[in-house]
Parts: sequence; C-alpha cells; structure tokens
Amino acid sequence: MSSPFDKPTIESRLSVRGAKWHRDAPDIIPLWLADPDFPLCPEIKQTLRDAVEEEFTVYGSDAKARESMSVKIKRDNKIDVPASQIMLTQGVTPGMWLAARHATRPGDEIIVTDPMYYPFVSQTQVAQTHTVRWNLDVDDGYRFDIEKLKGLISPKTKLIYVCNPHNPAGRVMTKDELKGVADVAVDNGIYVYVDELWEDILNDGRKHISLASLNPEIADLTISGWGFSKCWSVPGLQAGYLAATNDVIFESLKKHAYGVLRGTNNMGKALAPVICSGKLDYWKKDMNKYLGEVRGLVTKRLTEMGDITVPHLEGTYLMFPRFNYGLSSDELDRVFMKEAKVSFNKGVVFGPKADGHMRILTATSKGIMNEALDRIEKVIPILEKMAK
Ligand SMILES: Cc1ncc(COP(=O)(O)O)c(C=O)c1O
Repeated sequence: MSSPFDKPTIESRLSVRGAKWHRDAPDIIPLWLADPDFPLCPEIKQTLRDAVEEEFTVYGSDAKARESMSVKIKRDNKIDVPASQIMLTQGVTPGMWLAARHATRPGDEIIVTDPMYYPFVSQTQVAQTHTVRWNLDVDDGYRFDIEKLKGLISPKTKLIYVCNPHNPAGRVMTKDELKGVADVAVDNGIYVYVDELWEDILNDGRKHISLASLNPEIADLTISGWGFSKCWSVPGLQAGYLAATNDVIFESLKKHAYGVLRGTNNMGKALAPVICSGKLDYWKKDMNKYLGEVRGLVTKRLTEMGDITVPHLEGTYLMFPRFNYGLSSDELDRVFMKEAKVSFNKGVVFGPKADGHMRILTATSKGIMNEALDRIEKVIPILEKMAK
C-alpha cells in the first residue's frame, strides 16, 4: 500500500486555499514556506469534525488542553510543570515576543544564531534590543561552538534565543551543546527562550532533549515553546503553547500577555488532548520514515547535479543547501523562480552568513519533489555560466 505521505500531487495541493501554493503563479512549485503537503492524520480530522458537530464554537475553556500538555511535557520533555504554568499561544511565535518582553529593556542584547529562523531577529528589533549573532559555520557542520558563545556575553546580555531542532540549519543539538548553553546561561544569570517546535521531526533515530530538562538551575531561567504546526499539518490552526517552571517568570509572561494574547482557537484546544496523549505517535513514526526517504533522494540528486553543499539534515524537513557558484540568494532566487519555476526561501533572510544558501521544504511527495529537482537540474548550466 502506498504511503499517505506520497499521495499529494500538484493538482491536489492547488485545490487547497493555502498561502504556500497560491503566493506565486500556479506553474511554480512552492518549496518556500515550512508548510507540509501531507494529509491530516485520520484521528485529527475526526477530532476536528467532532468539535464542529458539537458546536464547540463557544468561548472555550483551555483547562483540558493545558492538563494534557502538562502530562505530555512531563512524559516526553522530562519537565515537571503544572498545567497552571502552561499558556496556550497563537502558534509558537508569540513566545519569542513574550520572552523578550519579560527579559529585556531597550538597549539590552539578545543572542541569536546566524543562521536563524528570521522572526527571532525581528523580535530583537521589536524589543529595541541589539542582536548579537552567534555564528554557526556550515563547513563545521553547524556545530554550536560554546566557546564562541562565551565570547559574546556582556553585562547587557539578557536573553539567548535557542531554536532546537534548528531552522534552518537542520541540526538537533547534542546533550553537550545544550549543557554548554545551560552553563553559560546559569553562570551569567541570562534567560533563555527555547523554541522546540520541531521536537517531533527527527532523522536517523535521533532523540530530542529539552533544554529545561537538564537541571533545575537552567529550568529556572528557561521559557520553552512548542506547537502542533509542523508535525501535524495544522499550521493554519495556529496552536502553540509555552511553559516556565519558574512561577515568577510565568506570572510576568501572563501579565505581558494580558488583553493582547488570547491563547489559541477551539480547534487547537480540541486537538491538544488527542495529540498530547501520544496515541498518534504511529503517524509521527511513519512520517519521519517517509521524510528520511525524501531527504535521501534530495541529498543524492542535489549533490550529483552540481556544486552544491548539502548539510546533513538531523531534524526538521527544511534543507539548507549552499549553491557554490558565488551568487547571492537573490540571484539564485531569480533563476529558480524564472527559469526553473520553483520557489525556495532565500538563505540570506536567515542571516548574512547564509547568502548563497536556499531553504528547501522537503515535506512533500516524491513525485512533486522529483519534478522540482528535475527543474533545478535543468538550470544548473545557467548557474555555471553566471558563476563568479
Ligand atoms: C522554529 C520555528 N518557530 C516558529 C515557527 C512558526 O510557527 P507558528 O506558525 O506555529 O507560530 C516556525 C515556522 O516555520 C519555526 O520554524
């Protein structure tokens, strides 16, 4: 029987009113937004149907959702946090904003990696703080170099943004790397906001370790964020949640959120007990297996078709290859859009060091992926001619 993850076709995806497939002309294959082409897990679909049938469109209590999250966080993330210290958020992104509100004042410094999922950098600007870049080097396997991190700390450093698994580097941090970050934060009394949205998308049997599980000292400084968007193909529901074991931090987050952030919608609340129960883990397992096959396919074809460095993808379904032709991400984007009819995210938006990279979504069928790769292969001679 063919995998449900292999079913999407260009026609079937164009029939959904999604942002990804409708930003550009319909002849363009969109691999830019981190929005999977995969179908809904049947239990998720049924839960959403049931919620509508029940007319769960009233002001909804989030108590059951938070209770289920508390159980999941204890079981899977090894963090003991009561339901009263969990907040539902509209997607994961508000956690970045809240953490900056709690931890910083204008003029302070926030550390972010380069490259980094760009909304983190936007938040440092919104908070009127200085962005201090912690460089991850692609030629060093995007290793989190703790000595480099130590060198960035100043009396103004108030917050470290950690993204693990990392978008766009595709790294899953090792225990040693996490311990390094934890030690730096604890030694200097710096808060950490850790975005673990990609905790479920892990390759080669890797295990996700939550930063706040390492020891009570780092837990005391950490705000952790999670969500349903990436694993469960429900980014449009904007269902996220965060937790802090430190009740003073949590009260401060609540105060900043009051009247501005109002949790998530009822569909997200209805899904929480089902997803957090762990009963759908079979779907997660099948999806990771399928994603591993697509990753193998993309890696092989990209490395064979041209001078392209393809970092090993340890987690997430976002590949971040570097096209070694001396061209900027803007120049690459123009060729891929105009000549290949494929759209990626430009590497440079993730950080100045990532110019020349492109971010490629791989959560799609092999049919769509192969069609996109065929198109990319055809424009490699153009890149060769333009090479600087
Ligand atoms: C690391 C990371 N955090 C947050 C988000 C945004 O997620 P949401 O739409 O649930 O806020 C993304 C989306 O790709 C992401 O990769």
